[in-house]
Amino acid sequence: MSSPLADGESVLLVDRRGRRHLKHLRTGHRLTVRSSVLACDRIIGLAEGARIGGGRDEEFRVFRPAYGELVTLFERPAEPIFAKDAGLILTRGDIRPGQTVIEIGAGCGALSMALLRVVGATGRLITYELREDFAEEARRNVVRHEGHAGGWTIRVADASLGLEERDVDRVVIDVPDIAAVMPAATEALRDGGILVAFCPTVLQMKEIHEAAARSESLGFAETFEVLERKWHVDATSIRPDHRMVAHTGFLTFMRRLAR
Ligand SMILES: C[S@@+](CC[C@H](N)C(=O)[O-])C[C@H]1O[C@@H](n2cnc3c(N)ncnc32)[C@H](O)[C@@H]1O
Repeated sequence: MSSPLADGESVLLVDRRGRRHLKHLRTGHRLTVRSSVLACDRIIGLAEGARIGGGRDEEFRVFRPAYGELVTLFERPAEPIFAKDAGLILTRGDIRPGQTVIEIGAGCGALSMALLRVVGATGRLITYELREDFAEEARRNVVRHEGHAGGWTIRVADASLGLEERDVDRVVIDVPDIAAVMPAATEALRDGGILVAFCPTVLQMKEIHEAAARSESLGFAETFEVLERKWHVDATSIRPDHRMVAHTGFLTFMRRLAR
């Protein structure tokens, strides 16, 4: 059952043309959305999907943002993992409730959110991040949009120097120099665990395969690219959108071999 929208939650106000505006509800505060000024108190307590009238004949529907909407709209000092890639990371990476997962590279916390949702209350996510300011931004984003950061530990450290954990189920890497952190990630993985690496260029992807081939502890490296094309659908025209995100990166999945 859907719960009413509450103080402290992030919401999307979607206008008649489908434009999405990401806002945060705080009792007693006002939101400026295009030419409308809306009191949060008018929104708090509404059902998701409710209609809310603004000024100058504007009108919005209000929802909690889905992952794919959030990562395109929230504060992002670093390039986040978008929904299309997060989907494959979670499924081919076989991330499940209750697992212990290490993430290397917090960035703005986008992928952290997706991982936290899946490992759930019985799982653990440990994120290594080199930069204090990115770690802080990631934490702020997760707490702001998820409402909590339970089960999550951020370690401000260079992952290439080694990871504290052992016997972890999955490691997901999104840093520029993946080959440099692969030995530490491999050491932390349990036998049979899955290592997932995201990289934007073919040269980086080649390096990952070479590092996997050199390692006696990793096997079965496979790389995928996800192409997502949105369609424009209305009564008079059904066709692919003119614009698309043509490229984000490659995803390489590897298995930790038994010791
Ligand atoms: C592209 S961003 C990660 C984005 C993130 N996956 C997301 O969805 O928001 C890469 C991050 O890796 C961090 N980083 C780079 N090298 C690192 C290392 N050796 N150890 C830990 N973090 C590292 C950078 O500071 C940066 O925040």
